Formats: sequence, C-alpha cells, structure tokens
Amino acid sequence: MASSVMSTSNTATASPAVSTADLRKSYGDKTVLDGIDLRIPAGTVFALLGPNGAGKTTTVQILSTLIAADGGRAQVAGHDVATSPAGVRAAIGVTGQFAALDDLLTAEENLLLMADLLRLGRREGRKRAQELLERFGIADVAKNRAATFSGGMRRRLDIAMTLVGDPKVIFLDEPTTGLDPRSRRTMWETVRSLVAGGVTVFLTTQYLEEADQLADRIAVLDGGRIVAEGTADELKAQIPGSHVRLRFDDIDEFERAATAFPGAARDDENLALRVAGDAGIDALRALFDRLDAAGVRAADFSVHTPDLDDVFLALTGEGTSAHPLHVKETLR
Ligand SMILES: Nc1ncnc2c1ncn2[C@@H]1O[C@H](COP(=O)(O)OP(=O)(O)OP(=O)(O)O)[C@@H](O)[C@H]1O
Ligand SMILES: [Mg+2]
Repeated sequence: MASSVMSTSNTATASPAVSTADLRKSYGDKTVLDGIDLRIPAGTVFALLGPNGAGKTTTVQILSTLIAADGGRAQVAGHDVATSPAGVRAAIGVTGQFAALDDLLTAEENLLLMADLLRLGRREGRKRAQELLERFGIADVAKNRAATFSGGMRRRLDIAMTLVGDPKVIFLDEPTTGLDPRSRRTMWETVRSLVAGGVTVFLTTQYLEEADQLADRIAVLDGGRIVAEGTADELKAQIPGSHVRLRFDDIDEFERAATAFPGAARDDENLALRVAGDAGIDALRALFDRLDAAGVRAADFSVHTPDLDDVFLALTGEGTSAHPLHVKETLR
C-alpha cells in the first residue's frame, strides 16, 4: 500500500476549510464585496477585520449560505456554497452579530431546541446539551431563562448552541463586541479550546487586539477588497516601525542632538527628534549613552511600537484623506 505517500500528498494538498475566489456582492449600486480571495487552512483561526460597513457580516452570510453571492466562488469544508448549500450547513456553526437565543426559553431549552432542529434525537440531544452547559460554565443556570443572562453568559450560550451539531467550521461574527474585558478573555479561551479540538474558526472583529491574540492569519477588509493579509507580525511589519521620540527644552540642545543623530527625523516646531529603530532596553541604553556623549539631556521621550491599530489606521484610511499610509504620530 502506498498509504504513507498518500498521506504526505494529502497534507500537501489538504483542502482548506474555507476558500473563496473573486467573491462579489452588491446591494443596488453599492458594491460591498469587490472580489474577495481567501484561503483558510483547517484547524486555524482566521480573523476578518474591517471598519463598520466593510462587508464582514456580508462575507459571513455568504459563506454560511444565508445569502447568495453575485459572483465568484466559495467553498466551506469542501462544499461549494452555491451548489451544495446543504453540505455547507451540515458542516458549520454560525454565531451571528446579534444573538439568536430565545429569551423566553431556559439555557437548556435553547440547546434542546437546537438539538431538535438538527434532529439529534432525544437522548443524544440531552447528552449534548448537558456536555455543553458544563463546558461553557452555565450548568448551574441551565434552568434559568436566557432573558436573565448577562451579555457574557448570552455569548457563551450562543456559542454553545452553534456547537450542538459538532461543526467543523465555526463563524463568529463579532463574538466579543460589547463584552467587558473579563468576559472577552473568557471568550478568547473558548475560541482557543475550539481550535485545540480541531475546529476551524472564522471570526470577524473590530478589535485589533482580539485578532492579535487569537488569529493565525488576519485579513483587513476595506472598500470591498482585502487590503492586507498575513499574520499579525507580517501586518505590523508593513508599516513604519518602532521609534523613539525625544523632545528637548531648548533649541541648542535640540540642534546638538540632531547632530548626534543625523539620521533622525526633525520636528523643529516641537524641538523633537524621531529616532528609528528597535525600542528594547539595550537599544534605549545605547541611545541615551549617545545623548550623554553629546552632552545633551532630553526633556522627555516616548517609545512608539507599531501595533495592529497602526496597521488598521494605515490600511483602512480611517481618519486620513489623501494619503493611504498614515502613522499615528508622524514627525516631518
Ligand atoms: N440587506 C441589505 N440591503 C442593503 N444593503 C445592505 C444589506 N446588508 C448589508 N448592506 C450594506 O452592505 C454594507 C456592508 O454591510 P455589513 O453588514 O456586511 O458590514 P460589516 O462589516 O459587518 O459592518 P459592522 O462592523 O457594522 O457589522 C453596508 O454598507 C450595509 O449597509
Ligand atoms: Mg457586521
């Protein structure tokens, strides 16, 4: 048997959990998705980032077969969304931006209702519901109506409901919007445990930190297109890097420092210099040694390391007009 050869080639060509090619969607004359290409390996977390109205929910709706695309192709768990929507639905779980709980039902009843919809059978449904109640820390409130739940508990129950059918791919549309920091962290742990269990997670978020914390790969959606795609580190590397900003109290010191750091960018108006480079302790020590050697004292300094917020601002043109590449703090 050529089983080892088979498995090697299977890994090399393993079909992605989600893939799209030139996906398009318009509402009237408004183009929402203008050709989206994605390829998400199984067992990973993918984050789709974008400002309000960018088309994140629209993408999730197409991939979960709730709406049809106008053009292009999309496959989820090996099924084409257009030609095999039932296959897609059987393989996915979706948690919408707005929770799909029935407030009048208890947590347990919500889960059992879902099990019924999925035709799991009474015994299997009860078993699954109990497992999920325990796993999501809501077993002690299983008999309470969802209406009495806090935002964090609602999200947990909502995700538990998507897991009733044991999906391979889970779509989470803004899973932590409106949650307090503690509930957000709990949700992150949940997502991590899902992936550890082999599930592929497709999440949308407006929180850069969330993408940074959770996602193997991130795509930034803006103006109907993917304007950047990569790991958090790759995205951060695309924009101007770390720098130290040194400010001086008088013009003489400023000029002497400028001579000592000929490569630094000058901000004459504020008597400040922007020195590019890594902002680690050793680099900072070297920088201050060099200032000492030049006999200059900085009045104050700040260290700037690019984060995903910078990437987001730079790429989505939020808060900028003409220039596509915008840095929060720019010295000229
Ligand atoms: N059913 C619809 N009819 C008309 N326009 C729609 C419809 N659904 C969405 N849109 C428009 O499509 C665009 C993308 O909407 P979408 O909900 O996908 O954005 P989003 O990235 O999820 O935004 P948010 O961060 O606010 O959730 C918006 O301009 C929205 O107004
Ligand atoms: Mg949305």
